[in-house]
Amino acid sequence: MADFNSIHRLLVSYLLFFFLVKSNSQLVVCSADVKCTDAERRALVGLREGLTDPSGRLSSWVGQDCCTWKGVKCHDQTGRVTKLDLRNPYQLINGGAGDPTAYKRSCLGGKINHSLLHLEYLTYLDLSLNDFEGLEIPDFFGHLRNLRYLNLSFASFAGEIPPRLGNLTSLQYLDLYADSYSSTRLRKLRSGSLQWLSALSSLNYLNLGFAKLDSIGENWLQIFNMLPSLVDLRLHWCELKGLPLSLPSINFTSLSVLDLSENSFNSVVPRWLFNLTDLTELYLTWDFFSGSIPAEFANMKNLQVLDLSDNLNLEGQIPGLFGNLSTLQILDLSANNFHGEIHELFGGFSSNPNNKLQSLDLSSNTLTGELPESLGLLKQLQHLFLSGNSFWGSIPSSIGSLSALRKLDLSYNMMNGTIPESFGQLSQLVGMNLVANSWKGILKEAHLMNLRRLQHVRLSTDPTISLAFSVSYKWFPPFKLKSIQLENCMVGPSFPVWLQVQNELNSVILKNVGISDSIPGKWFSEVSVQVTYLVLSQNQIRGKLPPQLQFPYLNVVDLSSNYFDGPLPPWSTNATDVFLQENSFSGPIPENIGVLMPRLQKLYVSRNNLSGRIPSSMCDLEGLQILSLRNNKFSGELPNCWYRSLTLWGIDISSNSLTGNIPSSFGFLSSLSVLLLSNNNLEGEIPSSLQNCSGLTSMDLGGNKFSGSLPWWVEKLSSFFMLCLRSNFISGPIPDQFCNLQNFHILDLSHNKISGPIPQCIGNLTALVHGKSSEVFEGLIKVVTRGRDPEYSSVEANVNSIDLSGNYLTGEIPDEITSLSALRILNLSSNFLSKNVAEKIGNLRLLESLDLSHNHLSGAIPQSLTSLASLTRLNLSYNNFSGRIPLLPKFNDSSIYDGNPLLCGAPLPTKCPDK
Ligand SMILES: *[C@@H]1O[C@H](CO)[C@@H](O)[C@H](O)[C@H]1NC(C)=O
Ligand SMILES: *[C@@H]1O[C@H](CO)[C@@H](O)[C@H](O)[C@H]1NC(C)=O
Ligand SMILES: *[C@@H]1O[C@H](CO)[C@@H](O)[C@H](O)[C@H]1NC(C)=O
Ligand SMILES: *[C@@H]1O[C@H](CO)[C@@H](O)[C@H](O)[C@H]1NC(C)=O
Ligand SMILES: *[C@@H]1O[C@H](CO)[C@@H](O)[C@H](O)[C@H]1NC(C)=O
Ligand SMILES: *[C@@H]1O[C@H](CO)[C@@H](O)[C@H](O)[C@H]1NC(C)=O
Ligand SMILES: *[C@@H]1O[C@H](CO)[C@@H](O)[C@H](O)[C@H]1NC(C)=O
Repeated sequence: MADFNSIHRLLVSYLLFFFLVKSNSQLVVCSADVKCTDAERRALVGLREGLTDPSGRLSSWVGQDCCTWKGVKCHDQTGRVTKLDLRNPYQLINGGAGDPTAYKRSCLGGKINHSLLHLEYLTYLDLSLNDFEGLEIPDFFGHLRNLRYLNLSFASFAGEIPPRLGNLTSLQYLDLYADSYSSTRLRKLRSGSLQWLSALSSLNYLNLGFAKLDSIGENWLQIFNMLPSLVDLRLHWCELKGLPLSLPSINFTSLSVLDLSENSFNSVVPRWLFNLTDLTELYLTWDFFSGSIPAEFANMKNLQVLDLSDNLNLEGQIPGLFGNLSTLQILDLSANNFHGEIHELFGGFSSNPNNKLQSLDLSSNTLTGELPESLGLLKQLQHLFLSGNSFWGSIPSSIGSLSALRKLDLSYNMMNGTIPESFGQLSQLVGMNLVANSWKGILKEAHLMNLRRLQHVRLSTDPTISLAFSVSYKWFPPFKLKSIQLENCMVGPSFPVWLQVQNELNSVILKNVGISDSIPGKWFSEVSVQVTYLVLSQNQIRGKLPPQLQFPYLNVVDLSSNYFDGPLPPWSTNATDVFLQENSFSGPIPENIGVLMPRLQKLYVSRNNLSGRIPSSMCDLEGLQILSLRNNKFSGELPNCWYRSLTLWGIDISSNSLTGNIPSSFGFLSSLSVLLLSNNNLEGEIPSSLQNCSGLTSMDLGGNKFSGSLPWWVEKLSSFFMLCLRSNFISGPIPDQFCNLQNFHILDLSHNKISGPIPQCIGNLTALVHGKSSEVFEGLIKVVTRGRDPEYSSVEANVNSIDLSGNYLTGEIPDEITSLSALRILNLSSNFLSKNVAEKIGNLRLLESLDLSHNHLSGAIPQSLTSLASLTRLNLSYNNFSGRIPLLPKFNDSSIYDGNPLLCGAPLPTKCPDK
């Protein structure tokens, strides 16, 4: 009890003390720590009450002295609130990179309380980077008369911009940039008239980017031209209509930054721009300017940034006069139509040794020629982007003097020379992209010597050209790379130390680089922890993969065309694309693949020694797109569980030992386009449930034991491109429905038991009449088979072919077949066809191969065969043809006429009787 009393006494005296101190402070008037006024504190509390604040950013807004609250600034003497900075401190970079959840949590939102108006002395209000979810900008902001700074950018305000903002006559800075990180990306700030702006005579920064200003009238530029203090004007993507080509007078001459990008003006570059001689930054991207670059740019002596990229239409040579712009730091002319060489441009800079150019982007034009030595005079250059042109030759050795260079992109050019040793002097270089050129020569240690900052390397050359690393096996490099891409250049045969020490890589492409080693285990396990992209294809790498390794972040793995063996490699739960084809992997596909790699989209394991059944957990891979298992030893029946693979569009399990039927559940594969099951032991009828796969384009079921009749229902599959049922036991007639296929380019029904006549409607196969393009369909098959397979190099060879050989077809060859003028291959051999061959067969101008052998055809061989210039294969043997053989000098092998006793003339020894 005594204890309780003493505590109680202590508490009472503490409270008394606190009260005294507090009341005391209220008596002090002119102290340094003035408290804010009650009214303003209440106003702020009111504001806080209206706001949502999931991360508790305003949790410091308690207690009496609101001047100490986070984001609040008061006047030193008066204690009145002058500044309210509620900008979201969590910023997503580059239009959204970063953690969107963390950003969103850090956002303020909700309503903005009128009580704000009690902050009469407010000069600064920043609500940027928050998420007000489409709230209108409060009209009462127009009453915050002392505001000099108002920033509502990136905050998802929407609706009409209140004209009352025109009352803020002290405003110097107004940022309403209306893009946002919010998931809805509301872009709905708009204004029908900006006349109110004219009152803001102190305004020097104005950003209305992404606001919809398409209805502010033809004279829109004049509104901004009336603002005499304007220094920085940004109107990115405002849907502005029509850029005036002339102005009666130019009043905004203090303009230093002008951003009119992405307004699609479709005009030439207007001349009044050149009167803005104070401009330091000019952004005109995606405005579709045309014509050549006016020489007047050379007068803009203060220009630091000139961005004319992505206009697509700007053309002509790049004038050298840019080199005179001694203040120019960034020149971006990418994605236009500039042509010619760039000697003049570089010459301009070289006569201006104090040039400040830091970034030069000429990518995606049609520039050509060699890169000049004068390149080395751009001493301040940090970024050089020249990709997507037709530059050729070597990199000039003067590149070594670009001591500030951080990024170099020369990809997609025709560089056919060497990389100089001086390259190794680029000690600031962080990223280089030299892919898709024809580099040659030898890269030595000197080339890489001082590249201390290098993180990203991309280099490829044409596979027919020799580019080789000649670096001693034990050489230790000065760099730690984050990504590497080397293609078609010689790095092997061993896996060199300079690569082995790169253990921070998250993207690895070493494709066709001549490595015939095994993979160093230490390197592999270090890299496995973070790598997301791993390509080691087309080498001679041998050995097994360490079974215990996990690749938690791996998305894409390509080990194809090597000598890897052992069981299928360690799995990654994040893998989407797995390319393991053309190796010696053996054993089964894991029973639980659906659990091991739930995100799998593409699985390529063709040409290995894999065996066992196709596990039914494959059906659990809901994102699966391509299943390519060709040329293995898979056996047993296909699982019948394909109910959830709604994205699966390519299946290739050809050349295995599958048995049983095609599962009826294939009919649920609503995206199925390519189905290749040839050369197995499958049997039964072709299930009619496949007619539900309405996007089916190609089906190869050849070399199985299928029976029953031909699938008449393919007529429902309007995209059908290839039907191959060769070497099965299919019987019955060719259904007329086949004739309705508008995209049929390959029909192979050979070696079955098909009977009856060739339908007359065959002339309706319009793709074979008009030779419609089939590239899209061929492309699909190539994607599924990865093109390198010799069996499918024949797809292309077989386009526009009909092969009905080895059946029981009777009747005559219908005349209508001669209207298939795009036909390249026609094989009707080994049937029971009779009567004459129509003279009109000469209409098949593109025919390369014609085989009518082993039938009962009679009459004369059509004379029109002589007009088939492309014909290289012909076989008419074992029929009843009679009379004189037409003059076909290409075909002097008499065996193609064997078994036709009534034929005469060359190349047969039998002479024709004189008439
Ligand atoms: C607005 O602020 C006032 C105090 O100034 C407060 O009484 C009122 O509840 C607030 N309104 C909202 C919606 O938070
Ligand atoms: C403030 O703006 C409103 C609406 O635009 C206007 O009617 C009013 O005259 C303005 N007041 C002043 C003092 O400019
Ligand atoms: C621009 O300035 C001229 C005088 O220098 C003036 O006559 C004209 O009204 C001004 N134009 C605009 C749109 O403010
Ligand atoms: C632009 O400047 C030129 C001289 O450099 C002058 O002749 C012309 O009148 C100016 N144009 C305007 C619209 O002020
Ligand atoms: C490089 O390409 C250019 C342009 O195609 C050609 O003129 C030149 O002869 C080539 N040089 C070499 C060494 O192949
Ligand atoms: C899969 O990748 C995501 C990022 O794309 C990552 O957050 C996740 O941790 C990865 N999964 C595993 C199992 O590592
Ligand atoms: C197919 O051709 C026949 C004549 O052979 C014709 O009657 C029919 O309308 C054609 N069908 C189509 C779909 O064009």
